[in-house]
Amino acid sequence: MIDRGATKTVHVRAPGKINVFLKVGAVMPDGYHDLATAYQAVSLYEDVFASPASDFSVVFEGGHIDTSGLETDGSNLAIRAARLLARRAGYREGVSLRISKNVPIAGGMGGGSADAAAALLACDTLWGTDLGRDELLALASELGADVPFALAGGTAIGTGRGDQLSPALAKGQFQWVLVLPEHGVSTPEVYRELDRHRERHAQDIFPAQGQPLVDADVLQALRAGDPHMLAESLSNDLQAPALHLSPGLATVLEVGEQNGALAGIVSGSGPTVAFLAADLDGALELQIALSAARHHVVRATGPVAGARVVAD
Ligand code: C5P
Repeated sequence: MIDRGATKTVHVRAPGKINVFLKVGAVMPDGYHDLATAYQAVSLYEDVFASPASDFSVVFEGGHIDTSGLETDGSNLAIRAARLLARRAGYREGVSLRISKNVPIAGGMGGGSADAAAALLACDTLWGTDLGRDELLALASELGADVPFALAGGTAIGTGRGDQLSPALAKGQFQWVLVLPEHGVSTPEVYRELDRHRERHAQDIFPAQGQPLVDADVLQALRAGDPHMLAESLSNDLQAPALHLSPGLATVLEVGEQNGALAGIVSGSGPTVAFLAADLDGALELQIALSAARHHVVRATGPVAGARVVAD
């Protein structure tokens, strides 16, 4: 926390995520799909600074992402998070939020969800509402399917909409090389594309009706901290619809796999592509090869902690 005389600012950092496994089941009555996913929080962070104010506002600054297209009105998820907490806690003032973004926008890595998770924790700390972890997680799940995981971090299994979390045992650090998209895609559009595909190919509907489960192989690979095993079991039901909507991603996947990646996967609903490397040297080589092919590339490791107050 920064305390400059009467103006205190709380700084919270929250991570982006990769879904190392994502199975999409049937559409539920609320319109969401039933999921089974394994999340890993990775070292691309959103930094949110919250200062006292009489109203609610957000600005984006710094970071490595072009934020010019982002909404800063009441539709912004970080503002919605702050307002939700104020309502629940009976807090009558507002907050001024500053966000420094490093997670790609609409990239399938949960950047907006990380902003919301960080805003919840920052306001809870700034206002002294002290709701506690379980209540914050409940508010987070009202804001979006991935928001609870951005609070929790680490490695976790998500079921239901992806918001019902249970911890997963994980060892070691995985090395990722991420190809960041020039343009984002809309998550609902990717789910709709999956639904259209399943309607066209009626035989694919049947497996989607059962309760989706995370494969035992993924859990074992995470427990063992073994990148070779994890590479074998990476899987994402949203990859095919994401490739359909952004056909260029197929070439990105090929280039990565030809240049030493153990495996590549579209992250969440995409279009960020995440490559798993065997070790740091492999990740550095892959980063150079993909950069040479004119992709926007960053490295990240995981798992990392969820939203945390940073003592500046
Ligand atoms: O919860 P969030 O706002 O991140 O979800 C964005 C959209 O993604 C939802 O409106 C829905 O269209 C789709 N979605 C889904 N099933 C899920 C998660 C997301 O259909 N489990």
